[in-house]
Amino acid sequence: MTVSEVRKKYLEFFKSKGHTIVPSSLLVPENDPTTLFTGSGMQPMVPYLLGEKHPSGRRIADSQKCFRSQDIEEVGDNRHTTFFEMLGNWSLGDYWKEEQLSWVFAFLTSEIGIPKEKLSVTCFEGDEKLGIPRDTESAEIWERLGIPKDHIHFYSAKKNWWSRAGVPENMPVGEPGGADSEIFYEFSGIAHNSAFGERCHPNCDCGRFMEIGNSVFMEYRKIPPAEDGSAPFTKGRIGHSEFEKLPQRNVDFGGGLERITAARNDSSDVFTIDVFAPLIQKLAQLSEKNYTDPAYTGSFRTVAEHLRASVFLIADGASPSNTDQGYFTRRLLRRAVRHLDLLGIGADTLSSLVKPVVSAYADAYPSLLQKSEAITSEIGNEEHKFRKTLDMGLKEFSRMAEKSLDKTLSGANAFMLFSSYGLPIDMIKDLAPEKGLTVDIAGFEKELENHHVISRAGIEKKFKGGLADTSEESLKYHTATHLLHQALRDVLGDEVGQKGSNITPERLRFDFSFGRKMTDDEKKKVEDIVNAKIQAKLPMQRVVMPRAEAEKSGALHFFGEKYSDEVSIYFIGDTLETAYSREFCGGPHVTNTGVLGTFKIQKEEAVSAGVRRIKAVLEK
Ligand code: ALA
Repeated sequence: MTVSEVRKKYLEFFKSKGHTIVPSSLLVPENDPTTLFTGSGMQPMVPYLLGEKHPSGRRIADSQKCFRSQDIEEVGDNRHTTFFEMLGNWSLGDYWKEEQLSWVFAFLTSEIGIPKEKLSVTCFEGDEKLGIPRDTESAEIWERLGIPKDHIHFYSAKKNWWSRAGVPENMPVGEPGGADSEIFYEFSGIAHNSAFGERCHPNCDCGRFMEIGNSVFMEYRKIPPAEDGSAPFTKGRIGHSEFEKLPQRNVDFGGGLERITAARNDSSDVFTIDVFAPLIQKLAQLSEKNYTDPAYTGSFRTVAEHLRASVFLIADGASPSNTDQGYFTRRLLRRAVRHLDLLGIGADTLSSLVKPVVSAYADAYPSLLQKSEAITSEIGNEEHKFRKTLDMGLKEFSRMAEKSLDKTLSGANAFMLFSSYGLPIDMIKDLAPEKGLTVDIAGFEKELENHHVISRAGIEKKFKGGLADTSEESLKYHTATHLLHQALRDVLGDEVGQKGSNITPERLRFDFSFGRKMTDDEKKKVEDIVNAKIQAKLPMQRVVMPRAEAEKSGALHFFGEKYSDEVSIYFIGDTLETAYSREFCGGPHVTNTGVLGTFKIQKEEAVSAGVRRIKAVLEK
């Protein structure tokens, strides 16, 4: 079966079960400053999972383009890709485990013909401390559907809990999550590799099993821990734990389209599916090398994967650059150039690989076709630019290796290869052993910070995870934004209202309605108020209440925004009534203003007629 056939069957099947099919969102999220990329199908659905009403109803399905930057170093094996499509279906407070598991099972077995004996499933074993029970309900449903008992496994939260931030302890306040039940396909003829442990099981990573689907039962949301175990401002706290129930029980299913297709074809190598095959073929022709030659397989896969991902990233607005999303495209293309060289393929070939990608997706993503010329030229330019500095960089690298007495590439030298010659750090890491060197990564990161070539947290750090918002720093800036909003209203009047907000771990940016430039005196007054509230060490608290009641409390909210009947309010102060600031907000925040540091406005400028922008930092 082809990727197109599986995608079509999936969407048709879920449509027949009452789902509205929605188009894929962009890889670069719109209006979501908290993440760099869409990394899972649920990301564009977050407001609806939290309780907002979805305009298309309570049953939604799609095939969502995803990019997971954190998987880049895994690319080269049989199953990891940075770009993939995630088949998704959601119940927004509608059906629950029985329907979900039965439908996914029917899709995989009856619709696309995977033999049920090839499937194994996993369920959450429960966590007493969190007050979340063992998921025997899912296990019983799987057994009834025909999965034998010895194909049903229980794991802890490390494997069978899903949130964007991973395990419960890593979730920021406000983040939704829940226990999940995963489905694995067992490939024929692959023996267990004992390097991965004595016993083979679905999660052992030896390559015999591959995860092809995940049903998340998303019914919880993280809340701030209660110091004394009480929960005066939240509803439905579970025991003394750090979760409350969401206003509705949701299902969030995601299945890797490419992996499901490979499983359907019983091929343990996802690079054999139809969307990669023409690329691999073309690379084989150009290189006169064999894909199955283990010396080259990894390079074939890396070029094909990175090129496909770059085509989709550029199409969605992430052109190669030195900042944010574009930096990742640049990095992928530079790695691809390096692997082209390992395959012995000459310069200026990367752009000739765009066509096979665009053709493979012509039916599902016709817009790629329209953009194909522009994408081809951007990729061509990028290869050209990089090759100009690459040779010099490699020579400099060899010189450094010869001179190094302790066989270490110092942080300063690694930084020079990165900043002057454009070698990505993972390429430096790859090449170092060939030159008999180890790289001082900590030293390199320090250099990055010292040189401020990129934000303080550093693009390199961003590269480690998709979420920019789980850091304590971002939470502090979010809380500072609420203080700023109220302080602006105190100084400039009620005409001030939020028009936009963008938070990174390094600064806040706040857009607000106001008709003229602020005076120096007004800026100073705003800073003084915010700093006084920081020094007062006020608690930041959350309460969930009916919308009408929340509006009566005077909490600030966006006019024109759709809110559900129950809303979440964050307030700064001892009680809601006496609070300094009250806002409709989903969080997350720090729990006390005392941790914020010193607030400083760096810039105040016009954005458009009647809208001003403040950039501000928190100094330690
Ligand atoms: N959101 C779930 C995942 O990405 C389905 O695995």
